[in-house]
Amino acid sequence: MDVNLQNVPVLALQAEICRRYAPTFPPPMLGGVTLPNALSPQEPPSSGTKYRVAIIGSGNWGSVVAKIAAYNTVRNSIFEDEVRMWVFEELIEGQKLSEVINTKGENVKYLPGVQLGANVKAVPDLLEAVNLATLLVFVTPHQFVKGLCKQMIGNIPKHARAISLIKGMDITVSGPCMVSETIEEVLGVECSVLMGANVANDVAKEEFCEATVGCADANFAQTFVKLFDTSYFQVASTPNVKGVELCGTVKNVVALGAGFVDGLKLGSNTKAAIMRVGLEEMRKLSRKLFGDISDDVYFQSCGVADLITTCYGGRNRKVSEAYVGKYKESPSEGGASLWEKLEKELLGGQKLQGFLTSVDLQELLVARHWEHDFPFFTTINLIATGKLDPINITSYRGCSRS
Ligand SMILES: NC(=O)c1ccc[n+]([C@@H]2O[C@H](COP(=O)([O-])OP(=O)(O)OC[C@H]3O[C@@H](n4cnc5c(N)ncnc54)[C@H](O)[C@@H]3O)[C@@H](O)[C@H]2O)c1
Repeated sequence: MDVNLQNVPVLALQAEICRRYAPTFPPPMLGGVTLPNALSPQEPPSSGTKYRVAIIGSGNWGSVVAKIAAYNTVRNSIFEDEVRMWVFEELIEGQKLSEVINTKGENVKYLPGVQLGANVKAVPDLLEAVNLATLLVFVTPHQFVKGLCKQMIGNIPKHARAISLIKGMDITVSGPCMVSETIEEVLGVECSVLMGANVANDVAKEEFCEATVGCADANFAQTFVKLFDTSYFQVASTPNVKGVELCGTVKNVVALGAGFVDGLKLGSNTKAAIMRVGLEEMRKLSRKLFGDISDDVYFQSCGVADLITTCYGGRNRKVSEAYVGKYKESPSEGGASLWEKLEKELLGGQKLQGFLTSVDLQELLVARHWEHDFPFFTTINLIATGKLDPINITSYRGCSRS
């Protein structure tokens, strides 16, 4: 092997070895996390043809992700250039949203002012959007994903792979079902996840950030890294799919707590305490559900970084802050209907995830008799469902098992 050991940093050397001798060696990893931009084998699609990408969803994040993927597909020969983006059709000033997107190159409703790329094609027919697609990128609000998957049964190639960017879970009789599991079960394809500290509008402005791909197959993870990684959106991968997904999902519940703190005009010490205890319960939940998940996951973008950004900048925090004001005016109106009303008033068609996730999560905690093990999540749920005044957000210790 012709490598000058003195001039090559050790990780680059490992990467070079991987490139030459894969699959004998896995890609370079640090603490279980594959480093971004690592050289890895140019794995061809199994058919020998290029990967065809379909984005299922075209909201705020879906549109940003279409833009990123479209940038990478034209630069990387393993992908077909065209990125199809399924659009839930609606009328914008009498015109179909999909037609407006294809004419203007912009999603005027969910991501105004941002050009998606000439190779993004908005398609309102789901089956046409996913026809022959071998990389399926799911990015809808979580309540719609199962129905969409059911419509797709029998209409996607057997060797297709999926990745979910969706934050949320379903509760079934046997326990929690993460969105990636729902996709795997309904469609019979392997599903990875991408989560991170990614407020869509900031990523759209190409402000620097990071994200984490959870993909059990370390070699294939590099295909997803190639699809999403850019100079401003840096993607690392880890094999721990469930750990990444649970972080991304449950942090929306912690964000409700952060919004209550803001609504009560409490300062940053209190908010930091709320975030810390939220992270602690996130970790405890992951361990109880999925066994010993490595702490590396919490130090990735999907963990502590996503928690910070969501508790400062996300839509769940924003609506939760407003909830406190409305609750003070009329406590009897607290609960589900107030969230629904505020979602409509404040989010312009975007969907709120935190309240639904809190309800699903609490169902799980009650079914397993874990409420006292998760006093903070339980307190948030009691406030969110209108059973407790938001002023009690810092009283979670009173609920804990001594
Ligand atoms: N927006 C962000 O900053 C962000 C960042 C990271 C992850 N996410 C996650 O991405 C996922 C999608 O969020 P988003 O921001 O792209 O969406 P969004 O909330 O901006 O938009 C809602 C989308 O749902 C569609 N929709 C409405 N009714 C529907 C129906 N009946 N069936 C199917 N679709 C319907 C709308 O057309 C729209 O595309 C969510 O799970 C979210 O948690 C969002």
